[in-house]
Amino acid sequence: MINFENVSMEYRNGTAAVNNVTLKIEDGEFVFLVGHSGAGKTTLTKLMICEERVSSGKLEVNGYHLEKIHSWSIPKLRRTMGVVFQDFKLFDKMTVYENVAFAMRVVGAKPSLIRKRVPFFLDVVGLSLKADSFPNELSGGEQQRVAFARALVNNPHTVIADEPTGNVDVDLTEDIMELLLKINKLGKTVIVVTHDMNIVNSYKKRVVRIEQGEIVSDKTGGDFEQ
Ligand SMILES: Nc1ncnc2c1ncn2[C@@H]1O[C@H](COP(=O)(O)OP(=O)(O)OP(=O)(O)O)[C@@H](O)[C@H]1O
Ligand SMILES: [Mg+2]
Repeated sequence: MINFENVSMEYRNGTAAVNNVTLKIEDGEFVFLVGHSGAGKTTLTKLMICEERVSSGKLEVNGYHLEKIHSWSIPKLRRTMGVVFQDFKLFDKMTVYENVAFAMRVVGAKPSLIRKRVPFFLDVVGLSLKADSFPNELSGGEQQRVAFARALVNNPHTVIADEPTGNVDVDLTEDIMELLLKINKLGKTVIVVTHDMNIVNSYKKRVVRIEQGEIVSDKTGGDFEQ
């Protein structure tokens, strides 16, 4: 469960990115988080993985209370979250295989499990043939799929995808959305950050809209304007 209670967050330079947000996402939900550029979508995701800390209010994520979490518990929290970052955050000097395997090594997975799971998830995202390529040898959409494999490989409870369809064509957009729906059917909570209302309107899911750091609407189904 993810529960924001009156959460505000200010960056060090004084930018108030999140203002008094109250938002509850139950286990197993599928939620679109929408809003214009600069609205605070990525900041909300960073708060959920404790990459940024809340300035005030309470935030509970998968049983962890992030307004008072100790730094040694943050890796445990992050193991419950699979995140596909807006800028992918791949390691340039590691191959596709190594990028995905590394995510398992840092959580102490056994080598035998790594050898089994990495090829499986590379296959899921259709990149088996690119296992030995480096990120700079891949297209934007392929890099994104590496990021997906990496987000899924530790079997997280919650998956967050920040603009997962920003760099890909229409066909791949559908593939990625189908993958996210499949992940959700497996029982995982899925949060998709996007400003593409065509995608949002194609799937009748819960839509939370944030503008200037505030939640301005929260409803399910229906047609949403850009
Ligand atoms: N590291 C930072 N330091 C200071 N201000 C920041 C930082 N990152 C983001 N901001 C500011 O915080 C606000 C929210 O930014 P955020 O990245 O959350 O927006 P977003 O909704 O994800 O936008 P986009 O759709 O363009 O990705 C913006 O005003 C932005 O300029
Ligand atoms: Mg963003």
